[in-house]
Amino acid sequence: MIELHQHLADADPGLQKIFQAIQQASLRVAQETGRAGLGADIYGAKGSENIQGEEQQKLDVYADNLFTDAFRKSGVIAGMASEEVDNALQFDESLDGRYVIMIDPLDGSSNIDVNVAIGTIFAIYERVSPVGQPLTPEDFLQAGSKQVASGYVSYSVSTQLVFSVGAGVHIFTLDPSSQEYMLIQENVTIPEDGKVYSINEVNFDDFNAPLQRFVQYCRDKRNEKGKRKYTGRYIGSLVADFHRNLLKGGIYVYPATVEAPNGKLRLLYEGNPMAFLITQAGGKATDGVQNILDIVPTELHQRCPLYIGSPVMMDEVMKP
Ligand code: AHG
Ligand code: MN
Ligand code: MN
Repeated sequence: MIELHQHLADADPGLQKIFQAIQQASLRVAQETGRAGLGADIYGAKGSENIQGEEQQKLDVYADNLFTDAFRKSGVIAGMASEEVDNALQFDESLDGRYVIMIDPLDGSSNIDVNVAIGTIFAIYERVSPVGQPLTPEDFLQAGSKQVASGYVSYSVSTQLVFSVGAGVHIFTLDPSSQEYMLIQENVTIPEDGKVYSINEVNFDDFNAPLQRFVQYCRDKRNEKGKRKYTGRYIGSLVADFHRNLLKGGIYVYPATVEAPNGKLRLLYEGNPMAFLITQAGGKATDGVQNILDIVPTELHQRCPLYIGSPVMMDEVMKP
């Protein structure tokens, strides 16, 4: 079996170090979540809010610290931006690093306490400012099309790392005994069409007309035998919903709603990395209007509606 570092043997040495850091930090998150309730104090709210006014869970902050430390020590990352931290961080000790990284350290926070799948999402860019100099806002506010790599870790039945360095999407499973990620599936492509639509339907009345039409279409559509063509699945962890749809085919939508006029998900930490992956896997991602990867961000914590999945379902939802 191929280990992660063997798979990346020909990649840029800087990228190799970043993936080493992701392996180390995600292993710790997996170990701690695996012991939830057994003394590791990770259940429950931290008693603080992040910049988006969302209640932070203990594991949000714990995971953020682990990844931040690992990235800082990698020596090749000049700075990072995290969903859980107000401002971008600059690593003064590694300003000669070529990379910046954006992270959602813990995705699916509301699922921690109920033992449902959670994740970590990351996006890697080359800085645009000169190496060795202080970072600038432009280093962080790059269009998603500029990503050199992105991926996620899913902490679930097993812990899996799914990523792309721009040459296909690959899936690795963490072997707890050797503490190595092992390649289990190479060049994954999303099925052209799928059976699953993943959307929080409680917001139906707030959806715009084209999205209401699409959801109604999914509810009504029958196959030649008169059986339903589609079914609904919504876990509430983007990583888990995305992963199932990637393997089985389907669509995930978090649209604009009255409560969240720009959607809920964050462009830098969720929309862009997942859009990069789905594109590499033969799927599509939009904000309901344009390709997610074409959006040039103006703010670190910018939100975006996210429509992402199998091409046939994406074409259907995008019909005017
Ligand atoms: P996070 O835990 O990083 O804040 O992300 C949660 C996101 C996403 O993972 C999930 O699909 C969505 O929020 C669920 O939101 P609703 O409960 O509004 O459906
Ligand atoms: Mn998230
Ligand atoms: Mn999060």
